[in-house]
Amino acid sequence: MHYFEYHAGQLHCEQVPLQRIADEVGTPAYVYSERTLHRHVRVFDEAFQSVPHLICYAVKANSNINILRRFAEWGTGFDIVSGGELFRVLRAGGSPEKVIFSGVGKTLQEIRYALDSGILFFNIESSAEMDLIHGVARQANKPVRVSIRTNPDIDARTHPYISTGTQKNKFGVSLPEARELYRNMRQLSNVDVVGVSCHIGSQITEMGPFEEALASIRRFVLELQAEGVALKYLDFGGGLGIPYDAEEPPSPAIYAASVACATRDLGIQLVLEPGRVIAGNAGILLTRVLLKKNQSAKKFLVVDAAMNDLIRPALYGSHHQLWPVREENNKEKVDVVGPVCESADFIARDRDVAVLHAGELLAVMSAGAYGFSLSSNYNSRPRVAEVLVNGDSYQVIRRRESYEDLIRLEE
Ligand code: LLP
Repeated sequence: MHYFEYHAGQLHCEQVPLQRIADEVGTPAYVYSERTLHRHVRVFDEAFQSVPHLICYAVKANSNINILRRFAEWGTGFDIVSGGELFRVLRAGGSPEKVIFSGVGKTLQEIRYALDSGILFFNIESSAEMDLIHGVARQANKPVRVSIRTNPDIDARTHPYISTGTQKNKFGVSLPEARELYRNMRQLSNVDVVGVSCHIGSQITEMGPFEEALASIRRFVLELQAEGVALKYLDFGGGLGIPYDAEEPPSPAIYAASVACATRDLGIQLVLEPGRVIAGNAGILLTRVLLKKNQSAKKFLVVDAAMNDLIRPALYGSHHQLWPVREENNKEKVDVVGPVCESADFIARDRDVAVLHAGELLAVMSAGAYGFSLSSNYNSRPRVAEVLVNGDSYQVIRRRESYEDLIRLEE
């Protein structure tokens, strides 16, 4: 659900016509709806109201500091995977005691930074990492709170690049190894074992894989509790999918009911790490048609946004709906492509798109998560502006990069 709608034949974000943003800020630009973000946070949070829980928004989905600042004001916590993300969260006013740190390769500096900042806990992804984190904590003479990210060997039935919960993936610790680790951790002076975690993948559109993971982690928690391991947190990760096109993922309510039902009697606080379901449909990439070009086999719509701005189609073959900013019902089959020198530089292929002319605007929908945050300067293209709309006004929350910005750090 989102607040991008047509009024009088013109696509608006909340009450602001996208044409106005294109005229005043230029294109390409990411445009986010604050009302949609807020609604998604609220709906997700309310879905879990029957159980003690903490929502830790996955910063990687959309890391703009102004957006993080809104989340901090709305009381969410944060799931981070780097020192850079921690820096953003703290600068945005996020509470360190609501931050959890995931990821398979944390550096010593990142571990120390997070420990000194007083984060809630580290998600440990290997026994080697356990040793590293314990070493840093001893050196700092501080206790460190940890949870082990288990790898339950479950197929999330999503794109292989964003599936994380099988033994072929680099993520998490197998259950037998995790069992060992929990036993060994008792001997570590500075380690405070507070939780157990799992995250099996992203853009999951059916309950089956979640239910399998829940059954697995529930069994594991009961086992640990029987051995006397007192756990405060069960971190079930993120991964709930969104409708990009015709998918019908479970609603937050259905997802939450299932998670709550499987964990309610464990006497444990839930932690959730949603990213896409919060930010995905709250943003679009606004682009302008540069020209139309016909090859003998295809028609191309060349737009000013490219794979460096939105890499999801090239990387995952992902589908983003394309809505014309001026409402138009006539369609033609085209490839929508950008100016980058790669044949993988496409936004859509063989798609029926509204008939548009050079200079007209197109909205690439559902681009609020893993859009800007995955963008780059490839082909020396300045990264685009980001705009946050609230009601009938908007704010540029990241200015468009200049050519000077491109070479600023080069000696
Ligand atoms: N927690 C952990 C440990 C994660 O690795 C991720 C995402 C999340 C939470 C949030 O997952 P979400 O709720 O957003 O599904 N670039 C890809 C998605 C990569 C997801 C990486 N991890 C894409 O554009 O589809």
